[in-house]
Amino acid sequence: MANTPSIQHPNELTAGDFTEADEPLRLFATWFDEAKRSEPSDASAMTLATVDDDGLPNARMVLLKGFDERGFVFYTNIDSAKGRELERHPKAALVFHWKSLNRQVRLRGTVEPVDPGEADAYFATRARLAQIGAWASKQSAPLESRMAFEKALALTMAKYAVGTVPRPPNWSGYRVVPLVIEFWHDRPYRLHDRIEFRRAAANEPWSKTRLYP
Ligand SMILES: Cc1cc2nc3c(=O)[nH]c(=O)nc-3n(C[C@H](O)[C@H](O)[C@H](O)COP(=O)(O)O)c2cc1C
Repeated sequence: MANTPSIQHPNELTAGDFTEADEPLRLFATWFDEAKRSEPSDASAMTLATVDDDGLPNARMVLLKGFDERGFVFYTNIDSAKGRELERHPKAALVFHWKSLNRQVRLRGTVEPVDPGEADAYFATRARLAQIGAWASKQSAPLESRMAFEKALALTMAKYAVGTVPRPPNWSGYRVVPLVIEFWHDRPYRLHDRIEFRRAAANEPWSKTRLYP
C-alpha cells in the first residue's frame, strides 16, 4: 500500500537494536558517547529529583561528572536544598534527555557521598574561579543582593590570592547507585521502544523488561 506509514525511525540506531542489550551500563556508555557527539550543548546535563521531609519532590539540573559500576556522580554544595534533602532521604532519580537523538534515560536508586579523596581530586580540576565560587556561594540560601555575592567572591579571591584553593568542607559529590535504569527511544506515532533494567540491590544481577510505550 502506497501510503502505509513506516515505523522505521529516520534516526536508526547505529549499534543494532538497543532492546537486545543485556547490560545497562554498557548501553548507557554507548548512548552517552553518541550524545556527546550529537548534542549541541552539554550531554552530561541531567535532572536530579529528590524529596523533602513532606514527601514533596524537588528537581533541578546537575552535571554528570563520572559513572561506572558503582554509580553516577555529581557535585554540589552539601548545605544546598538538594544536599539537605539527600542527607535525610538518600534516594534520588536522574533523567537524561538527549533531544538530538530522541532518547531518554531514567535512573532511580540510593545515594551515597563520594569519598573525600575523590571529591578533592575532582575539585582540583575545576577552574579557579569556580573553586572560589564554591567557597563564596551559600547555595540555595537567601541572597540579599548580587552585590553581596560579588563582595563575598572578592574577599575569597583575596584570601586565596596565591597557591591552590582547597575544597570547601561543604562542597562534595554524591553517587547515585541505580536500582532501576530505563532506556527510551522515540519511534514514530509514539510507538516508542522502552526497556527497563531492575535489580534488588547493587550486588544483585540486572533483570530486563520491555515496557509498553
Ligand atoms: C545545565 C545545568 C547544570 C547544572 N549543574 C549543576 C551541578 O552540577 N551542581 C550544582 O550544584 N548545581 C548545578 N546547577 C544548578 C542547579 O540546577 C540548582 O539551581 C542548584 O544546584 C540549587 O539547587 P537546590 O536549591 O535544589 O539545591 C546546574 C544548572 C543547570 C541549568
